[in-house]
Amino acid sequence: MAKKNVTLILVFILMLFFTSPKVTADETADYFMDVPKKPLQVMEELYKSVRNMELDHARKTVRMLDDLYKTYIVLITEEYVDDPSVLAAATLSKRVFKSMNKKGWHEARLLDATGTPFNPENNPKDEFERDAINAMISGKTYFEKIEKIGGKDHLRVVTSVHAVMKGCISCHPSSKVGDLLGGIAYNISLEE
Ligand code: HEC
Repeated sequence: MAKKNVTLILVFILMLFFTSPKVTADETADYFMDVPKKPLQVMEELYKSVRNMELDHARKTVRMLDDLYKTYIVLITEEYVDDPSVLAAATLSKRVFKSMNKKGWHEARLLDATGTPFNPENNPKDEFERDAINAMISGKTYFEKIEKIGGKDHLRVVTSVHAVMKGCISCHPSSKVGDLLGGIAYNISLEE
């Protein structure tokens, strides 16, 4: 009777051995390659991807605003401006920039690149604006930098403004069509 029990137990152990899942060489390799990441590394990667998303979004906003402003500056000049005494699209744009800034949407500034601005207010004011205008003079149409303003990261961008049509020359007579006149500078906060 006891011998029968021992045999049964042995058979049971053997069955367990043969039916248990086997770990193959490949599976072990996969397991060791999947080393868990440290929490700090995960946080850093998360921060970087959020920052890249914010940056992409800010760049897209600048592209959209730049297209909007330049489209209406040209349309106003084309449709309404026929002599230098009327309100210039540049003056009107500066009013729009002021209003957008007051409402906290974004900052925008009109810049001069000729060295003889209509309004001295349009002279580049800080290192970024001077670097951007120099880049425009050397042929670039876009210049950007991430800078801390008031403790918060901002995307700063300058895009070039050219005398795109004859209408511009009536008030900017020292330039010819196609010449660089200045730029529009944008500051977009990367932190809400
Ligand atoms: C009716 C006259 C007039 C016309 C037309 C005109 N501008 Fe101007 N522009 C001005 C005045 C006035 C200012 C100064 C605005 C200010 O800062 O108060 C100015 C300023 C500028 C500035 C900033 C540099 C500076 O000289 O102060 C740029 C860049 C500029 N204009 C581009 C253009 C472009 C591009 C066109 C054609 C699409 C154009 N302007 C057509 C009158 C004109």
